[in-house]
Amino acid sequence: MTTRVLTGITTSGSPHLGNYVGAIRPAIAAARTPGVESFYFLADYHALIKVNEPARVQRSTLEIAAAWLACGLEPDNVWFYRQSDIPEIPELTWLLTCVAGKGLLNRAHAYKAAVDRNRAEGEDDDAGISAGLFMYPVLMAADILLFNAHKVPVGRDQVQHIEMARDIGQRFNHLYGEPDQAPYFTLPEAVIEAQVATLPGLDGRKMSKSYDNTIPLFAPRHALQKLIAGIVTDSRPSGAAKDTDGSALFQLYQAFASADETAAMRSAYAEGIAWGDAKQQLFERIDAELAPLRDRYEALIARPADIEAQLRDGAARVRARHATPLLQRLREAVGLRDLANSALVDTAARARKDGNAATPAFKQYRDADGKFYFKLVQGERVLLQSVGFASPRDAGQRIAQLKEIGPGQGTPGGDAAGFLLGEGVSDEEVNAALAAFVESQLDGAASNA
Ligand code: TRP
Repeated sequence: MTTRVLTGITTSGSPHLGNYVGAIRPAIAAARTPGVESFYFLADYHALIKVNEPARVQRSTLEIAAAWLACGLEPDNVWFYRQSDIPEIPELTWLLTCVAGKGLLNRAHAYKAAVDRNRAEGEDDDAGISAGLFMYPVLMAADILLFNAHKVPVGRDQVQHIEMARDIGQRFNHLYGEPDQAPYFTLPEAVIEAQVATLPGLDGRKMSKSYDNTIPLFAPRHALQKLIAGIVTDSRPSGAAKDTDGSALFQLYQAFASADETAAMRSAYAEGIAWGDAKQQLFERIDAELAPLRDRYEALIARPADIEAQLRDGAARVRARHATPLLQRLREAVGLRDLANSALVDTAARARKDGNAATPAFKQYRDADGKFYFKLVQGERVLLQSVGFASPRDAGQRIAQLKEIGPGQGTPGGDAAGFLLGEGVSDEEVNAALAAFVESQLDGAASNA
C-alpha cells in the first residue's frame, strides 16, 4: 500500500535557509522513497490569514514554487499544486466547519496566544482577531483530509493542528459513516523531523521570518557571504578553543556538511580556529550546495508563466484523481444530493406503498359501557370490530384464537363469533389481514432476537 505524505507551505514570505533545511530538502528526498505518494502545495489561502498585501502573496507564491522546483521537486512524480486552484478545499472546509466543535477551536494554541496577548494589553479578548485565524485549523484539516494523507511532516508548532484534523475527520466519519463501507477520511499523523527542527538564525535564535534573522535561500553569492559574516559569535580570539555547544555557526555548518566534515570542524573549534575562518568555511560549504540550485532558481523565476502553467496542470490532475471524486462522495454523504435520483425519492415511494399496505394491528380499549373491546385495523380501515367482553382477559383470549385459527370459513359475524366485520369487509380480507399480522409479529420477533 502506498503511504500518502502531504504538506503545505504558507506563501507569506521568501524562502530562507531554515525552510530549505527543515522542509524543502527533506521533503524532496522523502518524495523519492518508493511506496510514497507525495503532495506538496502552496498554502495561499492560509497566507491571507496573516498577510493583507496582495503583491507579497503573489511574489511569495512565485518564489516558493520556483524554490521547490529548483531544489529538485519533480512535478511528474509528486502532486505539486496551489491551494487556491482546488475549489474542493474551501468546499470541504465548510462541510468540516459544520462538524468541528467550536470548543475545539477555542483551544488552538495560535488563537489562545492571540487572546492572551489581548488580555495582557487590557483589550477585548477577540480584538483584532479575524474569524480566519479562528478557523485556520479547519482549513488545514480540509487540506489534509481531502487527500486522505497518512503522514504530515510539520514543525512542532503545527502538531496540534494535525491532532485537530484527526478529531474533525473522526467526527465526520462517525456522523456520516455507514458500518459496511470504508470511512470517508483517513486519520493523519504528524511527522516531526527531530534532527532538523530548529536551524538557528543569524542571532542564534531559531531562524524565522518573525525574528528577522533569516538567510534568504537564494541570496546572491556575495550577499550570502556578507550575511554569514554577520552571524553572532562570542569574542574569543583566534587560537582560543571554541565551544560547539550553542554555536549557531557550528549548527549551520552541521546542517550542510557530511559527518566527516562536521568532525573536522569540531576539531578545528577545539584547536581555536578564528571565527573569520570558520565563517569562510561555512560560506564555502553552503555555497557549494546552493550554487547550482541558485542558477536553476534564477532561470525559473525569469519565466513566471511557465510556473503558473505547471501549477495549474498539477491542480487539474490532482483534482481529477483525488479531490473531485472524494467531494462527490462527501456531498452525497451529507445530503447535498441530486433530487432526481436521491434516496428521498425512494423514501417517498416506500411511504406511499406502506400507506396502502399498512401492517394490520389489533387495538384494545374499554368503552363507556365499561366493557372491553378490540378491533382489527389496517391503516384507517376497520376490518373487524369485537363485541363487548366482561374483562380484558376475555378480549385477549378471543384475539389469541383469531390469530391461531383465523375467523373461520364463512363465520358469520355476531355475538356468537365475538366480532362483527367492518363495513364492506369480506372474510377473505380479514383472513389475509390476520395472516399479515401474524407474519409481522414473527418478523418483529426475528429482528429482535
Ligand atoms: N499551517 C502550516 C504552516 O504554517 C502550513 C499548512 C497549511 C499545512 N495547510 C497545511 C501544513 C496542511 C501541513 C498540512 O506551516
